[in-house]
Amino acid sequence: PLVSTGDIAGPAAELGTGCGAFNAILLEHISAIIEGAERAGLPVILQLSQNAVRYHGALAPIGAAAVAAARGAEVPVAVHLDHADEPELVHEAVELGFSSVMYDGSTLDYRDNLQSTKEVVAYCHDRGVWVEAELGEVGGKDGVHAPGARTEPREARAFVEATGVDALAVAVGSSHAMLTRDAELDFELIGALRAEVPVPLVLHGSSGVADEHLATAVRHGMTKINIATQLNKVFTAGVREQLAARPGTVDPRKYLSAGREAMAGEVARLLRVLRP
Ligand code: G3H
Ligand code: ZN
Repeated sequence: PLVSTGDIAGPAAELGTGCGAFNAILLEHISAIIEGAERAGLPVILQLSQNAVRYHGALAPIGAAAVAAARGAEVPVAVHLDHADEPELVHEAVELGFSSVMYDGSTLDYRDNLQSTKEVVAYCHDRGVWVEAELGEVGGKDGVHAPGARTEPREARAFVEATGVDALAVAVGSSHAMLTRDAELDFELIGALRAEVPVPLVLHGSSGVADEHLATAVRHGMTKINIATQLNKVFTAGVREQLAARPGTVDPRKYLSAGREAMAGEVARLLRVLRP
């Protein structure tokens, strides 16, 4: 069934386990994420980023598909709008029945981020929608990795109290879109953030973090673990292998199903890693 993101992240934070938040671009990714969660028997957060929406040219077709797929799932599935900085897109996601949104004002200065996050929170909370914001910029989205970015714990607490957000994405050493899994996380800072911040913490750029370090991050207090690139790697490898083995293939179902199967296996595996 389709559930609120708070119904997944809240209990996970309380129990000290992680929850997987996986990005979809294609309908096949949506199926793979749900299939992987069903195989693991665990809830999952399925997310569509503003960038993925831009690829499709509109939110409604892929967004409605995600919501419908979540409703038909055997495990709890939340549908989340990821990295949105356009309020109109947030409004559209809410109207489509999304469980939650991430408003990303991380490139703004502190006061502007606080002000615009507050406005999104007011709109979403009126409609029962959970909101994630970001403080301290996790780099890599523009191809420029900035592993040195850090979120200051007391500032993070003040930001959460002033905005009323339900979860906070923090900079602790990860970076988006890494192809190698060798990012070094600041576990001490994760612990300090956990002690100060009263809402679940979100790790972005988790593809660059090795499995064992993801588990350690969860043990130190990270809750929502966002993973995109690692799944793209696995999906594309599956497609590539299939096309190489059968160069005469023309029916996309023949190779997309190979990618989908590989991705479902990786989702199930990662969901277990996040429950140390
Ligand atoms: O919001 C999405 C995540 O931060 C994904 O980052 O592609 O490096 O796993 P990643
Ligand atoms: Zn991210």
